[in-house]
Amino acid sequence: MKNIRNFCIIAHIDHGKSTLADRLLDATQTVTKRESKAQLLDNMDLERERGITIKSHAIQMDYTAPDGEKYILNLIDTPGHVDFSYEVSRSIAACEGALLIVDAAQSIQAQTISNLYLALENDLEIIPVLNKVDLPSANVEEVTDDIVDLLGCDPSEVIPASAKTGLGIQDILDAIIERVPAPKGNVDEPLQALVFDSQYNQFRGVETIFRVINGSIKKGQHIKFVATGESYYADEIGTLKLNQVPKNEIKAGDVGYLITGIKEAKEVKVGDTITDHDHPTTNPIGGFEDVKPMVFAGIYPVDTEDYEDLRSSMEKLQLNDASLVFQAESSAALGFGFRCGFLGMLHLEIIQERLEREFDMTVITTVPNVSYHAFTNKNPDEVIIVNNPTDLPEPSTLNRVEEPYIKATIITKSDFVGNVMSLCIEKRGIVTNQTYLTTERVEMTFDMPLAEIVFDFYDRLKTVSKGYASFDYTPIGLRASKLVRVDILLNAQTVDALSALIHFDNAYNIGKKMVEKLKELIPRQQFDIPVQAAIGAKIIARETIKALRKDVTAKCYGGDISRKRKLLEKQKKGKKRMRQVGNVEIPQQAFMAVLKLN
Ligand code: GTP
Repeated sequence: MKNIRNFCIIAHIDHGKSTLADRLLDATQTVTKRESKAQLLDNMDLERERGITIKSHAIQMDYTAPDGEKYILNLIDTPGHVDFSYEVSRSIAACEGALLIVDAAQSIQAQTISNLYLALENDLEIIPVLNKVDLPSANVEEVTDDIVDLLGCDPSEVIPASAKTGLGIQDILDAIIERVPAPKGNVDEPLQALVFDSQYNQFRGVETIFRVINGSIKKGQHIKFVATGESYYADEIGTLKLNQVPKNEIKAGDVGYLITGIKEAKEVKVGDTITDHDHPTTNPIGGFEDVKPMVFAGIYPVDTEDYEDLRSSMEKLQLNDASLVFQAESSAALGFGFRCGFLGMLHLEIIQERLEREFDMTVITTVPNVSYHAFTNKNPDEVIIVNNPTDLPEPSTLNRVEEPYIKATIITKSDFVGNVMSLCIEKRGIVTNQTYLTTERVEMTFDMPLAEIVFDFYDRLKTVSKGYASFDYTPIGLRASKLVRVDILLNAQTVDALSALIHFDNAYNIGKKMVEKLKELIPRQQFDIPVQAAIGAKIIARETIKALRKDVTAKCYGGDISRKRKLLEKQKKGKKRMRQVGNVEIPQQAFMAVLKLN
């Protein structure tokens, strides 16, 4: 155990975690040149394309130190996006040390700090790494000072590095050996292992990734998952190299994978404790939480006949993504579909993209919303959970509504404090703190409704700060709020899938902008289409889409049949993501219009 080191890499998004991990894998010859490709640990297609880490990954490296001593290094790569922060917290709990990567051009950002706090809460040894020193825009001295200020460490502890050129990689390896403590744990105690990740394999089912804290796990052992209460046999266990390496036993201190024939991702919960079925630990690992969806939206097939296909695709997706939840629902406008819960907006986009890519589904996604709590006058103590605007009780019967709030942390340059402040106040935020980290960099915290983050917040923040603001948040519970449902009528018919819950003070303004936006997005048809916004029976805004029919074949003078067919094909394709509601065709963008009002 004394020659094991478990560490993770934490950083703000894009500061170079995955690239640095690749360099460590090269340096320890965990991958051969032939296997090496950029960002090796990001093995989902989507991760490669977007250049972001979606899931955590773990990999084991064999390392021989310059003095000849052999070590096992378990590296746990973590996702950087706030949607997946629970996974970061579990990965951190599986380690004794953390490389804190800071981009030498960008300095400390919101997630640098939030992840650092998580690491400190878990008593990890922090090794600060100043990455990207090769960049011409790198501010080596200044950013080193920022790190020293933040950690209260000695400047000599900060390792200058470049994941691009390989500079500093040996120093990082030396620091991992010298500064990260070896795991403690007792091999003779009952099994106690922390589940910090799981992955789905089409052929082998769910693979659970764990860190043994005490005891050991053996092949064939009868084991029990404490939180779910389920027992299984450990059909296969092993360590995670680039490929899995089966083993007969994994002892306290080490990291490994487990295959038990579990078929569904939801049976394995990140944060759960694995123990022995017959001699269970009396001391499961604390801090377990069920991950809760934060954002809800309807997903409907474009073609109503594809409903059953959509259901089976969602079920398959859920097998390997336990954080996706869904429930059948129906909409007067869109027919049968599903109300789905996501960890955040990025997660929503990922699911939508995976449905299209992996399952060849064409879907319409409705305006995302958060989960509200409503109470009626009749039963003021009974909570009604509103995950869909149409579920909000009639205004006349409504006692009150509560909405989820977050604590938002924003780090920006002092020049932009005013802009960021106005934006947050416009988004119903209340300033709770403002601290100068350095003379130029300010950390601001706000209490804000989560719903406001779902609506175009990131884009606006980027614009008002010229890209110099980073953002992170944690939920802080529900607060009472004055919410109303704004309905949209097309051709005098309410389109339920376009309804949104909006704070009363903003409802008129947003209703007006919504009808203007819909007028832009909905193609003209052979008749005039009135577009109206209403609160209850009261119309608050109106626009008209003027009649016009664009006959794409008109130019072809009847002659060239194949050309005509091509044009019609093209038009049909353009229609693919349209939905016929009554006699109006609505394109997908229109369903998301409320998100892009500025
Ligand atoms: P997420 O996984 O999305 O959280 O990002 P990450 O922190 O893993 O960052 P990633 O490794 O994907 O790097 C982000 C970008 O910075 C990529 O374009 C890298 O090529 C680049 N990059 C990483 N390290 C260096 C470095 O040392 N120097 C330079 N010049 N670029 C780097």
